[in-house]
Amino acid sequence: MLQQAIKDIKSLEKQLFEGRVVAIEGLRIEATGPAEALRLGAYARFGGKDGPRGELVGFEGERAVFLACDDVEGLRPGASVCFSAADAVVRVSNSWLGRVVDAFGAPVDGGSSLSEGSISRQIKALPPPAHSRARVSEPMSLGVRALDGFAPCAVGQRMGLFAGSGVGKSTLMSMLARNAQADIVVIGLIGERGREVREFVEDTLGPEGLARSVIISATSDEAAPRRRRAAWMTMSVAEHFRDQGFKVLCLLDSVTRFAMAQREIGLAAGEPPTTKGYTPSVFAELPKLLERAGPGQIVPAGQPQGQITGLFTVLVDGDDHNEPVADAVRGILDGHIVMDRKIAERGRYPAIDVLKSLSRLASHLYSPETAEIARQARKMMSLYSDMEELVRIGAYVRGADPEVDRAVQLSPEIEKILTQHVGDNAPAEETFEMLAQVLGMGIEQPEPNPHIHAAGAAMAAQGGERRSENRASLARQLSGN
Ligand SMILES: Nc1ncnc2c1ncn2[C@@H]1O[C@H](COP(=O)(O)OP(=O)(O)OP(=O)(O)O)[C@@H](O)[C@H]1O
Ligand SMILES: [Mg+2]
Repeated sequence: MLQQAIKDIKSLEKQLFEGRVVAIEGLRIEATGPAEALRLGAYARFGGKDGPRGELVGFEGERAVFLACDDVEGLRPGASVCFSAADAVVRVSNSWLGRVVDAFGAPVDGGSSLSEGSISRQIKALPPPAHSRARVSEPMSLGVRALDGFAPCAVGQRMGLFAGSGVGKSTLMSMLARNAQADIVVIGLIGERGREVREFVEDTLGPEGLARSVIISATSDEAAPRRRRAAWMTMSVAEHFRDQGFKVLCLLDSVTRFAMAQREIGLAAGEPPTTKGYTPSVFAELPKLLERAGPGQIVPAGQPQGQITGLFTVLVDGDDHNEPVADAVRGILDGHIVMDRKIAERGRYPAIDVLKSLSRLASHLYSPETAEIARQARKMMSLYSDMEELVRIGAYVRGADPEVDRAVQLSPEIEKILTQHVGDNAPAEETFEMLAQVLGMGIEQPEPNPHIHAAGAAMAAQGGERRSENRASLARQLSGN
């Protein structure tokens, strides 16, 4: 029965409907076709079933408006249009791990062709229903001191990374891809420079990082529908691994380029521009994309709960943190990490402004002890940043305020802890030990309560088992593919 159903779906995906190109204006192509094929979001190929692709983005009266995904040079009015349902779905398989694919799932790393998985996923899938999603509460070590200490992240949380151009977003992303405690990392590189993709894969990720990653890339020279689709594809790939119970880290660099692609498509389809030329659909599409990350649907007890932890970079134009895309994204996510050009100019990398960064789940993730350490360290940095100017020009006299004296003494030490080399992996516990030492607080070991210890050990063993089960099942599937 199931086999038959799969066959039916496959044959439906292969079913082709024909239409005709009637007008071409740059990348905008108008065409006619049978009513059953003309749906917003449908894909078609022009001039034959292997011709360049286009996405149906709007209607002009009875005519469908397509935006070309590929080069359409040489195309003429009268050319055939083949509609194919297969392009609206993707068949991800575990064999994609370690590979770089484009917006349509074709390999772009020069490697062998990829095998397809058995499940058809909608490229523009809906997030799991809100009421049936698992809760988010398990801390996830990101391996970056400034984040674990001051903007802690939970498994299944969604955070934004806000910074101007060239402040170090992509570099921080690569640190997270290598250091974070995740089973699988799915990385969407949207609108990057072509040079950066290879650099990212070969230099920053390295073979070990790449082995647990899938990279989806649509560079800045690719057409807007491809750039937008690559972001959707990133989420579809993350969902594929989440549904197998893995803890997936999904990194999208950058959401701004997704919004720009959506703006281009909206304008071509005839939408009116609003603030900064962004069309209303940009603000409708952003939450639909970002909501796909987060916890998966609750699974029966004993089965591994899949989660997608999302980290999305936002390019803040001209360092204006209130520009419309940044504003919209900040409202959707569960926390924001702010990077500051001034910190980068001082040479402190990663240039995270811990006083402006916020994790909305922090209070659930800190223990009473670590919360106190973070609070004290923040207080010292905040005091120092208020007094910095005065201290520099010598207007502050030592001894005037013991708290300020302490801040002046400790801030450089805390800055040192926040400085981290790209190749360093810093487990969260180590970060708190370092901070506690600087603050003279000392971390107490928990009371030796035999009951708690036994329960803790059992839970840890279960977690370990689950992870190794995951890995074992992944290994099985990999060898099967
Ligand atoms: N952790 C780091 N250590 C040392 N240098 C860094 C670090 N992070 C960033 N840089 C410096 O900043 C430059 C820009 O970094 P990166 O490409 O990560 O920024 P970006 O914010 O992604 O830029 P864009 O907006 O152009 O995409 C790097 O080429 C490097 O010189
Ligand atoms: Mg970048």
